[in-house]
Amino acid sequence: MKKVSVSFLSSKNIPQDLRKLNDTDVDFIHVDIMDGKFVKNKTMPFSEMKNIYKYTSKRLDVHLMVEKPSKYIPLYAELNTEFITFHVEVEEDIVACLELIKSYSIKCGLAISPDTKISELIPYLPYLDEIIVMSVVPGEGGQEFIRSTESRIQELRDLIDSYQFPILINVDGGLNNETCKYCSLADIITSGSYVVKSESFQEKISSLRD
Ligand code: DX5
Ligand code: ZN
Repeated sequence: MKKVSVSFLSSKNIPQDLRKLNDTDVDFIHVDIMDGKFVKNKTMPFSEMKNIYKYTSKRLDVHLMVEKPSKYIPLYAELNTEFITFHVEVEEDIVACLELIKSYSIKCGLAISPDTKISELIPYLPYLDEIIVMSVVPGEGGQEFIRSTESRIQELRDLIDSYQFPILINVDGGLNNETCKYCSLADIITSGSYVVKSESFQEKISSLRD
């Protein structure tokens, strides 16, 4: 069965929505971090973001949409974090950043934007626990799922299977009960507005599982 990660990026009342998510069977809370440089928007600073722990005991799936992951990794490693993932498009030393994440005994991942070739991931496969395939252009919640993501997931699945690496595929952006049908080869579905803008979080989470 697929795992589900929920992003609170589009939430209007974060403490309330995190408490509501804590009462569901969601697997992870997806924490979107934006620096206003790698993407236009900016999320709240770590000094505020770290308060997440007050509202949820769920494990965190941290998605860094930032130019310099090495600045953020030590901060987010302090929280109840399962994965820290940053983008393969960054200019920092990718292997050094992946090793920095692992030095905290946290699972590491790379995210890939819709316009980047899947083959860019090849050099890093031996280091990775997860890959986030972006199904929207990173930067904001509530966008429409890009249909060609389906063939990109297939390409990545074939690549991972050919090398036999135990890497989880997470798909992020524009996911709902319809678009998740195009992600049957994924292990984790990340969804934001479809869940947090709904009346019943649990019902929406269950609808993404299979
Ligand atoms: C996009 C973010 C996603 C997004 C998911 O830049 O990385 O995590 O917020 O939200 P929805 O499901 O609303 O696209
Ligand atoms: Zn995300």
